[in-house]
Amino acid sequence: MPAKINLALKVGPPRDDGYHPLATVFQAVSLFDEIEAEWAEPGEFAVTVTGEGADLVPVDDSNLAIRAAQLLASTYGRPNSVGVSLSIKKSIPVAGGLAGGSSNGAAALVACAALWDLDVGTDELQALAAELGSDVPFAMLGGTALGSGRGDVLVPALARGTYSWVLAFGHRGLSTPAVYRRFDQLNSPGGGPPEVPAALMNALRSGEPAQVGPELVNDLQPAALDLQPKLRQVIEAGLEYGALGAIVSGSGPTCAFLAANETAAVDLSVALSADGICRAVRRVTGPVTGARIVG
Ligand code: C5P
Repeated sequence: MPAKINLALKVGPPRDDGYHPLATVFQAVSLFDEIEAEWAEPGEFAVTVTGEGADLVPVDDSNLAIRAAQLLASTYGRPNSVGVSLSIKKSIPVAGGLAGGSSNGAAALVACAALWDLDVGTDELQALAAELGSDVPFAMLGGTALGSGRGDVLVPALARGTYSWVLAFGHRGLSTPAVYRRFDQLNSPGGGPPEVPAALMNALRSGEPAQVGPELVNDLQPAALDLQPKLRQVIEAGLEYGALGAIVSGSGPTCAFLAANETAAVDLSVALSADGICRAVRRVTGPVTGARIVG
């Protein structure tokens, strides 16, 4: 199941329920966590986590994959006749703005529905995904999509081509609610509903990274930079090393750099790694498909 980046993240003032209305363009990229689901005793829901940032992931009922399995079991009727033991192998950094946790939730829904042989369709799974979190429906869908509502209402976007990205991981994570709170402090309430810039949609239709790069936009970026000022240097370094566009991914702190092609991405990732300002650098491509069963 893939990580996501937001090519545009336009954020409106908070709604009465505290969530922010979004107009966003998600793209799923080739950085994957893996999840395995095995039968467990009825009523037993357990998870083990290994890999990138595993010690930061809760393994109790607050784990999004466990919550997904429990929600699926209780909604589709057999909570005391099914159980699951989940193993998650993480490559997506925790609290990185890449929807790693959401991706695990989406994968658990898909994996458990298959394991328990439930008669549940994609639309039903998407509805459960939205209950679990704003980014979970996109993690199921994948590709490139326009998101509205709190990010959970999706329409596939017309996007041509494959994009080469370089991701720079931060030393510390950022809490999504904390970034939204800082966003509220930095912005005065009011204004119209958020909209994805037409220029970005046109650029995506062209399939030209050189057109897409300058149109990347993230309203949460000033809040993320305020909470982690060093990210400013990371963004500047990527642009200096030839990125066509640079953006904090979602609520951060991962920074995403768009390269002209694979060769440029290799050069950019080598330069950023040598610079030593981020914890790790990874090359990925997008779009890729959403959570799916591989065997
Ligand atoms: O939906 P999810 O549980 O992933 O959201 C985590 C937190 O991010 C929310 O509790 C809220 O503070 C913030 N959020 C928001 N507006 C959104 C999505 C998330 O304020 N559209």
